[in-house]
Amino acid sequence: MRVLKTVIAFATAMGLTASAYAAGETVLVAGASGKSGKPLIKILADQGYKVRAMVRDKAKAGDLGAGVEVVQADVTDASTLAAALKGATFVISTIGATSPAPPNNPENVDFKGVVSLVDAAKAAGIRHFVLMSSIGAGDPKPETMLNKVFGMVLLWKGKGEDHLRQSGLSYTIVRPGGLTDCDPGKVGLKIAAGNEPLQGRICRSDTGLIMADALTNRGAKGKTIAIISDDKAAPAAWKGGWAAIKKD
Ligand SMILES: NC(=O)c1ccc[n+]([C@@H]2O[C@H](COP(=O)([O-])OP(=O)(O)OC[C@H]3O[C@@H](n4cnc5c(N)ncnc54)[C@H](OP(=O)(O)O)[C@@H]3O)[C@@H](O)[C@H]2O)c1
Repeated sequence: MRVLKTVIAFATAMGLTASAYAAGETVLVAGASGKSGKPLIKILADQGYKVRAMVRDKAKAGDLGAGVEVVQADVTDASTLAAALKGATFVISTIGATSPAPPNNPENVDFKGVVSLVDAAKAAGIRHFVLMSSIGAGDPKPETMLNKVFGMVLLWKGKGEDHLRQSGLSYTIVRPGGLTDCDPGKVGLKIAAGNEPLQGRICRSDTGLIMADALTNRGAKGKTIAIISDDKAAPAAWKGGWAAIKKD
């Protein structure tokens, strides 16, 4: 313990980032087979983390990268989660319902599934949990377009978020705008308080950069943020944005 404290004090004195001494620890990526999960895996591996990719079907997941451990689990079956989480230090969830109707709908995945994953993460002693949610999460209005066409997804995402906030786990909730696919780190990003009604789009990979940063950045703990891309900002300027956001 004393050696660890000395190493951390030395790293801090040398101005090393928190990530520098989290490198080598295992991040469980839930939703690893998805369009946000895949670029996130690469970002985490490049930062020196061990990545454990949680997928529903190993056979369908394809090649998720050299050195990536693949585990099979489904958030709608809570009994599969303890084994997936065993020995992991961090969780990032990018899961999302695949259908507006049961069984894999927003109520069962973005709410009940997130509840099961959060509870299993707590039981496993996870150090920090990052949840990818959505701008507008918590909106209960049936007439809101996303709620109308996709099984009240915003309502259920909000309930999943609430469970994480109340879980006692260290957490960050990241609410992106409309997702696109592009290379990370090329454009500026805007980080705002989670309840700001931002309108815009953001690359899945840039969302991944922010979620990876949130794992060890003390300024990210206990916060809900909304994020979109911002052409007027410098690509890395968002890193200074955490401080202005209040804790939940
Ligand atoms: N699309 C947008 O513009 C937008 C905007 C804001 C936020 N979001 C949210 O951002 C997140 C990521 O979006 P995305 O487009 O990257 O998602 P995606 O490509 O649809 O990936 C979703 C992932 O969740 C997994 N999943 C689904 N049901 C599961 C279950 N029961 N147990 C375990 N894993 C399960 C899927 O696994 P399989 O491969 O096995 O299906 C997949 O890996 C989602 O929560 C989405 O709602 C989306």
